[in-house]
Amino acid sequence: MSRISTGISSEHLSAIASEFGTPTYVYDAALMRERCRALDAACGDYPHAMHYAIKANATLAIVRLMRECGARADANSGGEIEVALRAGYTAQDIVFTGVGKSAAELRRAVALGVKAINAESPGEVERIAAIARELGTVARVAIRINPDVDAGSHPHISTGLKTNKFGMSIEAARAMARDIGRHPSLRIVGLHVHIGSQITKTAPLTRAAETLSDLAVSLVAEGIPLEHLDIGGGLGIGYQVGQTVVSPQEYAEAILPAIRRTGLTLVLEPGRWIVGPAGILLTTVVDLKAQPPDPQTGEARQFVIADAGMTDLLRPALYGAWHDISVVSPRPGPDVLCDIVGPVCETTDTLGSARRLPPVEVGDLLVIRDAGAYGSVMASNYNRRPTAAEVLVENGAWRVIRRRQTVEDLLQWDV
Ligand code: LLP
Repeated sequence: MSRISTGISSEHLSAIASEFGTPTYVYDAALMRERCRALDAACGDYPHAMHYAIKANATLAIVRLMRECGARADANSGGEIEVALRAGYTAQDIVFTGVGKSAAELRRAVALGVKAINAESPGEVERIAAIARELGTVARVAIRINPDVDAGSHPHISTGLKTNKFGMSIEAARAMARDIGRHPSLRIVGLHVHIGSQITKTAPLTRAAETLSDLAVSLVAEGIPLEHLDIGGGLGIGYQVGQTVVSPQEYAEAILPAIRRTGLTLVLEPGRWIVGPAGILLTTVVDLKAQPPDPQTGEARQFVIADAGMTDLLRPALYGAWHDISVVSPRPGPDVLCDIVGPVCETTDTLGSARRLPPVEVGDLLVIRDAGAYGSVMASNYNRRPTAAEVLVENGAWRVIRRRQTVEDLLQWDV
């Protein structure tokens, strides 16, 4: 039996494909639990709270699984707050992040009394204060700083530079922390930073933690009490074999010395590291097409056209992201140079280019790995394509946790 991940074998995948069709996301519950615990354990005895970043995978059953594992929740929109509540979280378990929170979203968060609203701008703080005053309550606010640190990740998912839209400068944050005291309807509970995602080096994480801690130490010295420091998410995973990544232990060692100086509770918002490697996208080859031989080498090359495309997994098209692709039941024979593409009418609808696969035939199943984070959540209905089914595997058994959309589902919104 060949293993796809800890809890999923190729036999499972063949059975799942024949039962539910493809494209289908398949998640390994055991691996998600294991990774959730490993990250939590890396922080050791230092007081900490891990808030799972729902944006990475917002399927209700996955969010519930995170809650069962003891993680709390990081919501990035009103929708994600509702998902967290539906998954059984209380408002006190939720931190609410995000640039451009709407008035309705802020009102909901204030009325619920979430653990912290991570405020992004002076204007937002004023809006939160006004809502809290009107509702006769005290809103718990953390200030998101922009430390002007380059996360060294893909520019599209780097958020910590002063040219990025996220957070506020140290000076602005300091001024705001001093000013918050004049709002009886606000309580400053922490500072927040998130410099980017898919970070594979410790230096930027350390710099962000130090900047956060330096500000915290000086604010506390001024008599502004804080409860926690929220370091955000960002821990990267190895999409390619042999890729250097930061282990949870190295991550903790990179950030904890700075945080420890403050004695404040550490809040983490991991997403990708927990769920990314625990999800695969299962897809069927629907067509094959020969290409002109490779101009450099003269080697034969073909298009392998899959039933999954950029509407199911956007990362390759949007960021040029690399996901490992393999055949579920490889046929014997020499490898073939392939471009694995989807059915969407865009040339960017490529899942993997210049890959080598064993000989494939129409009907064969392919596995696209490390698709548990920012996979299903970024799906779209472009070309009127219904989104994939999602299946959770646990102890050798599986169940549908999100059914495949139908075209009828899509048409129900058209009036
Ligand atoms: N906290 C905040 C405030 C965030 O903005 C994010 C991710 C996280 C936590 C979780 O970060 P993680 O641990 O998952 O790196 N769609 C992109 C990733 C966008 C990440 C956005 N923010 C991708 O497919 O790579």
